[in-house]
Amino acid sequence: METKATDSAAKPILKLEQVNLHYGDNHVLKNISMDIAAHSITAFIGPSGCGKSSLLRCLNRMNDLIDTSSVAGKIIFDGTIDINERRIDVTQLRRKIGMVFQKPNPFPKSIYENIAYGIRIAQAAPKSEIDGRVEEALKKVGLWKEVSDRLKDSGMALSGGQAQRLCIARTIATKPDIILMDEPTSALDPISTQTIEELTLELKENYTVVIVTHNMQQAARISDSTAFFYLGDLIEYSPTKVMFTRPQQKRTEDYITGRFG
Ligand SMILES: Nc1ncnc2c1ncn2[C@@H]1O[C@H](COP(=O)(O)OP(=O)(O)O)[C@@H](O)[C@H]1O
Ligand SMILES: [Mg+2]
Repeated sequence: METKATDSAAKPILKLEQVNLHYGDNHVLKNISMDIAAHSITAFIGPSGCGKSSLLRCLNRMNDLIDTSSVAGKIIFDGTIDINERRIDVTQLRRKIGMVFQKPNPFPKSIYENIAYGIRIAQAAPKSEIDGRVEEALKKVGLWKEVSDRLKDSGMALSGGQAQRLCIARTIATKPDIILMDEPTSALDPISTQTIEELTLELKENYTVVIVTHNMQQAARISDSTAFFYLGDLIEYSPTKVMFTRPQQKRTEDYITGRFG
């Protein structure tokens, strides 16, 4: 099994070595080893229940919140730290490796506060600076024009697509290195989906994106590398073009041609 999707010499931003995850007796991820390249979009695909979300949660220690979970193996971030080490400050880690969920989940606060909150927790800053960073984050996700005159309105009052962009703005406002997205468009209409896809493509200039998607066209449209999982195994990890034109494994081909899933 290739652990690198491309033969780029660049140092991976994440290096997974023999990652195993159990929830109780359920062995959910089996010996996952893979390199994730910086400033790229990596897609995780595979049938429901194969472990995509679980692996995504491993990447910023979100499985810590699940009592029955136990993780083994190494996840080396930026060539230096193993994020599974006990001494890691997980709050700090999740600021560096942020997560966007399937269902947009703005806080029950104003649009402004949804973004300012995380900035303030990370560091004390004068209001003028926070204002500037809120504006910058909203501009990056293309939401500024739509909401600049109603920053005090509740974030919960936005449409689904706007709310998801607010959640992305909230994530990038704390200047992460990596953004994890778990089926970020599956609850959205086609127009909002397209907006989020375009935004994701722009984000890779400044961030590394790992996206779980059940939509293979979406993986093909936006990702550079694709990882196909089946029953907790990483079956194939290839450049996206290869994955969708010349899959190297029979099971990958069966899945992407719709023979199961
Ligand atoms: N919070 C949890 N507690 C216990 N088991 C879970 C939990 N979340 C997922 N699982 C189990 O882990 C396996 C992988 O699930 P998941 O990572 O959600 O797959 P996917 O995202 O590919 O659909 C499934 O067997 C699922 O039932
Ligand atoms: Mg999932």
